[in-house]
Amino acid sequence: MSHKKLFVPGPTEVREEILKAQAKWMIGHRSKEFGDLNQRCVEKTQQILKTKNYVFWWTASGTGLMEGAIRNVVQKKVLHCINGAFSDRWFKISQACGKEPEPLRVEWGRTIKPEMVDQALSRDSYEAITFTQNETSTGVRTPLEEIVPLVRSKYPDVLILVDAVSSLMGDWFDIDALGLDVVVASSQKCVALPPGLAVAIVSARAMEKCRKVPDRGYYFDYDAMLKRYEKDHQTPTTPAISLFWALEAQLDAILAEGMQNRYRRHLEMAQFTREWAKKYFALFPEPGYESVTLTTVTNTRSISVKDLNSALGERGMQISNGYGDLKEKTFRIAHMGDLTMQDMQEVTRAIVEILKL
Ligand SMILES: Cc1ncc(COP(=O)(O)O)c(C=O)c1O
Repeated sequence: MSHKKLFVPGPTEVREEILKAQAKWMIGHRSKEFGDLNQRCVEKTQQILKTKNYVFWWTASGTGLMEGAIRNVVQKKVLHCINGAFSDRWFKISQACGKEPEPLRVEWGRTIKPEMVDQALSRDSYEAITFTQNETSTGVRTPLEEIVPLVRSKYPDVLILVDAVSSLMGDWFDIDALGLDVVVASSQKCVALPPGLAVAIVSARAMEKCRKVPDRGYYFDYDAMLKRYEKDHQTPTTPAISLFWALEAQLDAILAEGMQNRYRRHLEMAQFTREWAKKYFALFPEPGYESVTLTTVTNTRSISVKDLNSALGERGMQISNGYGDLKEKTFRIAHMGDLTMQDMQEVTRAIVEILKL
């Protein structure tokens, strides 16, 4: 089978040794061996993220855990900060779960700012607020470091829920120092695993809140997950065991690299790709709020992104077209997971050659 190196914002490139780590003899999920494997994955994740919060690895995609967060900690009112397709998805999930969600919308490409959040939170009483740390549809980063301290000091009872699906273990933000209540992410982005696992990092106060929420559903119930973990480190339902083998191998690799080095590598790739984009095209995101894990480029030359991607495919590489309405108006080059500066040099050089820039 031919191999295209993935510069798309998920699924990202998975190294061969990680793919091979999945190919072990199957074990029972009620075995001590699986409980031990799960426990090691939980503890290594806490170590990488420097968090004392609960860590739950679920067999699901990130959207499942976005829904799980809403079902576990929101009874009625939740404020959703929306600046793209994925932040809007959280609002839609709350609607679908019968909650009373309120949107705080800004134009796609722009970021959410502290004063906007302050104004919106002052208007009503909310149980929780949601942020998308890295809006993958636009390549915009939300400055949690500026917003969250304000929320924690002025609105201390509001739970803070963060979608870090396309940034966790690539970009860096301090979960415990900021006091984030729920952070969710998928395996197929910066963790650089195949799709199929997702992680929820849950604070003690979110855990307490969940116990008071009736009808919080079955599959993503935090309390049931914790009870089973405390009993024998297993999961309430059958996990994707093969992916857990790969997860442990990848967590070991991330520990060996060091999370701060991993973050710096992502930042360097981002800075390189942004400079390249500014030279030949333009950057789409609001200046100063560009994603660390993907670069969204405005198609100022009206090239056919579809044709460019086909030509890249012939060279064994793939980037992403713009998302939704931004298709052909923008294109996205991801620098996530285990990609390196050399990879970014290769893909950008190939684009220059193909387009004869
Ligand atoms: C920011 C963000 N949130 C949520 C999702 C949905 O995650 P999943 O596809 O794992 O359900 C994505 C997927 O691209 C994403 O980029």
